[in-house]
Amino acid sequence: MSEEIIVVEGNGTLAGEVHVSGAKNSALKLIAAALLGQGKSTIHNVPLISDIEIMSEVLRRLGATVERTDHALAVDTSKVDKWETPYELVSKMRASISVLGPLVGRFGRARVAMPGGCQIGARKIDMHLAGLTALGVEFSVDHGFLEATTPHGLHGTEVILDFPSVGATENLLMASVVAHGRTVIANAACEPEIVDLANMLNDMGAHVRGAGTSVIEVCGVSLASMHPCNHVTVGDRIEAGTFLAGGALTGGPLTVRSIDPAFLRVALMKLSAMGCDVETGDDWISVARTRPLRPTDIQTLPHPGFPTDLQAQFMLLASLADGMSVITENVFENRFMFASELKRMGADISIDGHHALVRGVSGLQGADVSSTDLRAGGALVLAGIVAEGETRVHKVVHIDRGYEDYAGKLATLGAQVRRVASNGPM
Ligand code: EPZ
Repeated sequence: MSEEIIVVEGNGTLAGEVHVSGAKNSALKLIAAALLGQGKSTIHNVPLISDIEIMSEVLRRLGATVERTDHALAVDTSKVDKWETPYELVSKMRASISVLGPLVGRFGRARVAMPGGCQIGARKIDMHLAGLTALGVEFSVDHGFLEATTPHGLHGTEVILDFPSVGATENLLMASVVAHGRTVIANAACEPEIVDLANMLNDMGAHVRGAGTSVIEVCGVSLASMHPCNHVTVGDRIEAGTFLAGGALTGGPLTVRSIDPAFLRVALMKLSAMGCDVETGDDWISVARTRPLRPTDIQTLPHPGFPTDLQAQFMLLASLADGMSVITENVFENRFMFASELKRMGADISIDGHHALVRGVSGLQGADVSSTDLRAGGALVLAGIVAEGETRVHKVVHIDRGYEDYAGKLATLGAQVRRVASNGPM
């Protein structure tokens, strides 16, 4: 199939209501966690995105059946009899590394292709390996594969992470729930997706306490006592933040539904600081703006700090604010490629190491631009909505990894966006 692109007209409209899908960065791990319960777990509110298809295929290769009905995924792991993940799937999605913890939990061993880096950074897994080693896992590297064994079983211990890594916290969590004894994960990641995973593990019979704080305590249970469960994935806070940034950009008013506002406290504070009116309810957030965008400084940090996955979207806002903003990327070492694409639309941004100096301009011009990662891609489409003329966003495959029906949802909010084959009619 030829590459598709998203064509956006700069009509300056994004207003109304939209429901966000289930969180990609939770659902991927919930599917992996199902390996710890023999039988059929049903995970609801699973987004229709390509990364979920890849993770589903990873589990099928292990012997599971994974069947989707609308937004529910039935994952039956009763016949899982393999512990190896193939290179071609891990190379497509590095999050496949999330099966490492549950596989050593279930089989005491795993053979997982080493994940590569990506556009935004090296994406190392040293903290995953150090933490699992402390739990009793022994690793060797064999022709690009990580070989994991547990000659003396998994045993609880205290692990202190150098950095509150989301993936490392998740892998340690999924292995420690069936380790012998008590595990404490200190300096753990506090993201809402960690809480979602811990809730599912507890519904399967695990004993996890403190998820959502930087100290998580796990009392190991026997693998045999772990059982399947039904679970509803939390809303995607990054999808919500992306649409809210769009509403801030155009003035809205725009409401996102099916999201807990507590997931986005710092991002909402920044929207207010930039001159937006923000209102929240139990499961919705509204944004509107009548005043000019004000500049603001942003530091991306682990949760509850400002999310790195919203950095590009807020750089776009800052590029149209009336003044200078400084955006500091503290989580990934190479997450400013979006700036070079936005500059091709007329933004005035200079990069100095981990800092982006963003001088607001009066407007942007439509152009051909390319998604460098899924969040940058989402932001480029938003830029096209407020740019003068037409914008063609290439490498839409990145956007499809993490946003369900992005063009369709934007169109329901009044944007003039359409997907076309890249060599198709304009
Ligand atoms: C998760 O990635 C998300 N992906 C990312 O979302 C998100 O940006 C990131 O968390 C931070 O919130 C998924 O959940 C699938 P980390 P993860 O381990 O787990 C370094 C998106 O757009 N590090 O918290 O890989 C690492 O290189 C994606 O949906 C080590 O050095 O993030 C990075 O610089 C992009 N050694 C930093 O820590 C390790 O062992 C944060 O990584 C692990 C991580």
